[in-house]
Amino acid sequence: MASGNGSNFEALVKAAKRSELDAHICALVVNNPNCEARRRAERLGVKCVVHDHRDFDSREKLDQALVKTFSMLAVEGVVMAGWMRIVTSILIDAYPNRLLNIHPSLLPSFRGLDAVDQAIKARVPLTGCSVHLVEPEVDAGQVLAQAAVPILSSDNHLTLSKRIQHQEHQLLPIAVAIAGECWRSV
Ligand code: GAR
Repeated sequence: MASGNGSNFEALVKAAKRSELDAHICALVVNNPNCEARRRAERLGVKCVVHDHRDFDSREKLDQALVKTFSMLAVEGVVMAGWMRIVTSILIDAYPNRLLNIHPSLLPSFRGLDAVDQAIKARVPLTGCSVHLVEPEVDAGQVLAQAAVPILSSDNHLTLSKRIQHQEHQLLPIAVAIAGECWRSV
């Protein structure tokens, strides 16, 4: 699931193509028909399903459509790779311990919107990225993997975001592999 640029989605697809991740990324779902993530899916030859959030009159209805799509695709798990919509228990309960999110901070620090800005303003020396299980409370589920990133005195939002994203692209395939091991052992 992606909403914008889709670089984490591409990192997952490439890790699977290089056999660094034992997974088949069967589809991308986007909520924004004009996003770069959709164009990446086309370039990478991955099916893309559009569920424009503006076509739904509640978060629950969007999530019902997502669950229907994922169930038709028979997916084992779902990754929110830059999904900028709050999800409801409709999606969360359909994939217990199988719905992952990537967030640009060392959780539990800096939950919610613009975690990069939050970290800069807090003047902490270190931030990073986390992959966690999704729970109804935003950015609060069990953390599966994290990577730390130093904040340099010369950093601005763009330079820090880029450095965090570089780590995200390494971390997300590792976290999906960890989650997959858990799913396959139960
Ligand atoms: C990523 O940095 C991800 O951590 C963040 O959005 C970016 C998406 O980049 N997610 C959140 O902030 C969710 N709260 P991408 O579209 O290039 O993968």
